[in-house]
Amino acid sequence: MKIGVYGGTFNPPHLGHLISARFAMEALGLDRLIFMPAGDPPHKELPQGSPTARERLAMVELAADSMLLPGRVEVSDMEVRREGKSYTADTLSELHEQYPQDELFLLVGTDMFLTLQNWKKPEVICELAHLTAFARTQADTGERLEMQGKYLSETYGARCTILQLPQITPVSSTQLRQRLERGEGREYLVPGVYGYILRGGLYGSGADLKSLDHEDLTACSLSMVYAKRHAHILGVAQTAVELARRWGADEELAFRAGVLHDCTKYLSLEEHLDICERYGLALDEMEVGSAKLLHAKTGAALAKHLYGQPEEVCRAIYWHTTGKADMTKLEKIIYLADYMEPNRKFDGVEDLRRLCGEDLDGALLLGVRMSIEDLNERGVPIHKNTQAAMDWVLEHRKG
Ligand SMILES: [Fe+2]
Ligand SMILES: [Fe+2]
Repeated sequence: MKIGVYGGTFNPPHLGHLISARFAMEALGLDRLIFMPAGDPPHKELPQGSPTARERLAMVELAADSMLLPGRVEVSDMEVRREGKSYTADTLSELHEQYPQDELFLLVGTDMFLTLQNWKKPEVICELAHLTAFARTQADTGERLEMQGKYLSETYGARCTILQLPQITPVSSTQLRQRLERGEGREYLVPGVYGYILRGGLYGSGADLKSLDHEDLTACSLSMVYAKRHAHILGVAQTAVELARRWGADEELAFRAGVLHDCTKYLSLEEHLDICERYGLALDEMEVGSAKLLHAKTGAALAKHLYGQPEEVCRAIYWHTTGKADMTKLEKIIYLADYMEPNRKFDGVEDLRRLCGEDLDGALLLGVRMSIEDLNERGVPIHKNTQAAMDWVLEHRKG
């Protein structure tokens, strides 16, 4: 197996890193790629006010997850966990022990490649891994890299490849940090990483989380969930806006509720219960043991307390999983958008989409009925509020 090891400080991980990673995987035919954020980089001091190693690790995890290649792309905390300076020779030795049969490819930027002889134990590095240098600009492609490659192979028996990157992201990490401090720079980051920076106030970004614009609120929400859920969340937000327009509800509130509705989806049961305790949420017996039911309540709590959303938005999030009797228009819209946004695929979804445009309560009845049937088939108990939603619509439509 060919394994790429992409080290660096990733302060922060930006699109340039992801483009390089994808390109290297393709060009070298890598089976796997391991991002290896440095804990304490030996060759450069991190600028003052930089995020902690754990925060950089979390950002790299979000960036790697955004590549949507589970099983092929991963992030290692080996250097973050190790005490002292993060020497590449130590890392490669540890990886070689872990993967004795596999070929390792160390991916490095031009600067690092040109100074490799000054690293700790360059002979060990060259013995354990193929070296792959990314040439980021045209100027990098010149003689310097070729000469260095020749020098390293003659001196240490290095095996070197120089990859000229096809797309160049015209920003360095230093410039990007400066932009973030001015509240700019999101175009150089995947939304999850940008949202993480905003939530933590990293790089002096200092945004007020209670008055974010659409793009920043979206980034914050996406930074809280796995990338595989991003399309669904964006689909719900967009569908909710369309339904609000169709049925005369507030489009702005529909967007906010849609974009935040699943923000706590991947928290553990313990994390959910922590939030419930912090904000004094009352739970019934069924909810206490179910992260699936709790994510609606904790999502609503964070929408309110972290993102300062109005009551209507929070309530629509609160009821989006179970529904309830006598729902408001916005609550119905979020419940239905969650059910039939464009990424949803199940028998009957087209009927539900059509009905959403013709008869909102009819659609709600169909949605709740399908939901109950599905739960029954899977042997999952029906929450009393879901039953109440069904009874209420039936009663209401009779009149
Ligand atoms: Fe949900
Ligand atoms: Fe959802």
